[in-house]
Amino acid sequence: MPHDAPEPLFADVAHGIRLYRGDALELLKRARDEHFDLIFADPPYFLSNDGVTCHAGKMVSVNKGVWDKAATFEEIHEFNKLWLGECRRLLKPNGAIWVTGTAHNIYSVGFALQTLGFKVLNDIAWYKVNPPPNLSCRYFTHATETILWARRDPKSRHTFNYAEMKRENRGKQMQSLWHIKPPGPREKRYGKHPTQKPEALLDRILRASTNPRDLVLDPFCGSGTTGVVAARLGRRFVGFELDEKYLGVAAQRITDEVDARERQNSLSFEPPVTVGGEGVTGA
Ligand SMILES: C[S@@+](CC[C@H](N)C(=O)[O-])C[C@H]1O[C@@H](n2cnc3c(N)ncnc32)[C@H](O)[C@@H]1O
Repeated sequence: MPHDAPEPLFADVAHGIRLYRGDALELLKRARDEHFDLIFADPPYFLSNDGVTCHAGKMVSVNKGVWDKAATFEEIHEFNKLWLGECRRLLKPNGAIWVTGTAHNIYSVGFALQTLGFKVLNDIAWYKVNPPPNLSCRYFTHATETILWARRDPKSRHTFNYAEMKRENRGKQMQSLWHIKPPGPREKRYGKHPTQKPEALLDRILRASTNPRDLVLDPFCGSGTTGVVAARLGRRFVGFELDEKYLGVAAQRITDEVDARERQNSLSFEPPVTVGGEGVTGA
């Protein structure tokens, strides 16, 4: 996909899926204008400040990796302006972007989106249902993350599968408060990522705002959750990631998903096996 990019680390050409290892800022710069229908980005939140949190009943460090090391507000904002500016260039005229965050980065992301000319459509509050307790007892428990949804231009026509979302919400308009549990062990079977997003979250986002065969980019794809769900829903996908280990996990998860989908398709197209003209199915 980036037209002068290195070879993808993983490619499934038949399903339009490619994973590239590298710095998102570099890879974004090398990609073609107006190429993607949708971008989902789960960027560094810059919350690794050597503090502690609670995980599975134990006190653990909040540090996620060097890529998430706390920075000054100016540095965080400069970074957000740079990658979001490139994303805007890469979106088709009716394209849109989703960006996740917490108080550490989301105000900068929102300000950058508006400064760059995007139109913010919703600020989704993702309620994590069973969040870890706050060990310091000096704040409320952090129970939500924000996901901003914005279209490329104030007057563009973004995709919103309104009827499907309403059906999913038992006939009522879907609200911007989403109750979604963190990823379970099955989603982590090839290895853990410290900030892995649940497949259910990406499932809602991609079904709400893309159509089959749309091309989706995730510039910070980590363990590949967006790619897994894209493969499941028949969307094409490009992912960028710095860390080869996480890309390996992403490739395994996506391969499993593609295989599962193929098996499902071949089952549904198989003619029933008949016995003695009775029409008894053999499977
Ligand atoms: C918040 S995590 C994304 C997790 C992902 N949504 C998932 O479900 O696994 C951000 C990821 O971006 C990667 N990253 C950080 N800075 C990057 C950069 N400049 N270019 C590419 N990847 C980067 C990190 O290695 C990390 O895996």
